Amino acid sequence: MKPCFPSVPFEGVSESPVKYWLHEYRDTTLDFTGSQKTALSRLLPLLVCGEQSSQWVFYNESQRELPESLASARDDFERIVADEQYHEDALELVQSQLELPEDVVAIKRRSQRFFASLGSRKTFEEYFAQIACLDALVCKIMLYLEKGRLDPHHPFVLLCRSIKQDEARHVTAARQHALALGYDRSEWKALNTLISEKLYKLLNSEREAFEELGITIEHIFDSRGS
Ligand SMILES: [Fe+2]
Ligand SMILES: [Fe+2]
Repeated sequence: MKPCFPSVPFEGVSESPVKYWLHEYRDTTLDFTGSQKTALSRLLPLLVCGEQSSQWVFYNESQRELPESLASARDDFERIVADEQYHEDALELVQSQLELPEDVVAIKRRSQRFFASLGSRKTFEEYFAQIACLDALVCKIMLYLEKGRLDPHHPFVLLCRSIKQDEARHVTAARQHALALGYDRSEWKALNTLISEKLYKLLNSEREAFEELGITIEHIFDSRGS
């Protein structure tokens, strides 16, 4: 099965909690009910696609010629690439235990289109501002997966919590970088609304799968201004 986005030519190391999760659960078969399996098998391709796309964002930025004052951010970006690689591995590990949905190609194509549309923005600062908004929403998805139907000690819930911790750091890094590149703060709110609307549309195509896991997607977007 072709990935949504090819892998980046870089293998990083980070102290992501997901690295430890992989260490702990790599050989464990996770226990899900049949309908949870069906639901997750539809949501994981979306999430994996996001992890792959994010690796390119931060990898490209780590390779770009940056002003001296911003060069120290390069290490942060490489660390983020590594985090995302662990996220991708872990989510793919879960996915490998489930049957692929029949329309997996269509699901992937939808997500690919969503992430590629983010890349088509005009400036680097706007791009990173978008990533900050998007990762904040990913944090919320992870939070709601944690609070959803699965047992709080379920390994998948532990994975979501670990990913959430990393994503919160990515939000801060992306936001700082956007501002350092000159992003106008007064535009955050409008941008956040725009990204929320786009993501809502994407997630809405898998509304039933979210419901199955105990998530009403509107809740993810409740505090749009935050
Ligand atoms: Fe991630
Ligand atoms: Fe991220």
